[in-house]
Amino acid sequence: MEKLTGPKKIKTAVFISGTGSNLKNIIKFSKIKKSPISISLIISNTSQAKGLRFADQFKIKKKIFNFKNFKDTEMNILLLLKKEKIRFICLAGFMKILSKEFIEKFDGKIINIHPSLLPKYKGLNTHNRAIKNKDKLTGCTVHYVTATLDSGKIILQKKIKITVNDNSNTLAKKVLAQEHKLYPAAIMKIFN
Ligand code: GAR
Repeated sequence: MEKLTGPKKIKTAVFISGTGSNLKNIIKFSKIKKSPISISLIISNTSQAKGLRFADQFKIKKKIFNFKNFKDTEMNILLLLKKEKIRFICLAGFMKILSKEFIEKFDGKIINIHPSLLPKYKGLNTHNRAIKNKDKLTGCTVHYVTATLDSGKIILQKKIKITVNDNSNTLAKKVLAQEHKLYPAAIMKIFN
C-alpha cells in the first residue's frame, strides 16, 4: 500500500453490521472541508443492518457480503476495495472478525471503535461486564486493527463515568454519544 498522503481526500470504506450511528456520524464528518477522508463505500455483512439506509440517504455505494464462505468473501471484498480505490477502512459496529491475511493487505489502514476502555473488555457485552464488575469508569477506544482481536495500538480513548443508576442500556447510550466525538477526532489525529 502507498503512503496515505496527498491533497485529495482519502477514499474510505466503512464496514457495519447494525444501526450505523457511527457510520452516519463519520459520513457527516467526511463532508466537512477539513476532513482528510471521503466515504466511497459501505460494506455490511447483513442486509438487515439498519445503517444501510445511510448509503441511500447520502448516495454512497453499498455492498452486502454474507460471509458464508469466509475466504471467498474476503477475497471478493478485497477486489471491490481495489476497484473502488479504497485506501482506508473504518470498522463501525462491524461484528465479523477479519482474517490476518485480510488485515495484512491493509496493514495500518484499518481502524475500529470499541465500546470499552481497552485493553479492558475485549470482545462482546462490554457494558454488562463493566456493570457486573462494579467499575466506576468505562469508555470507548479507537484503535488500529491487527490480527489479534481488539488489541491494536490505541489512537484515542475517552473515559465515561458509570453511576449507580446505570444499566447496560443507559451506558450504551452514554458511550455511543462519546463514540460520535471520538471517531472523527481519531481520524483527524491519524492524518495530522
Ligand atoms: C458501537 O457501540 C460500537 O462501539 C460497537 O457497536 C456499536 C455500533 O453502533 N462495536 C463493537 O462492539 C465492536 N466489537 P452503531 O451501529 O450505531 O455505530
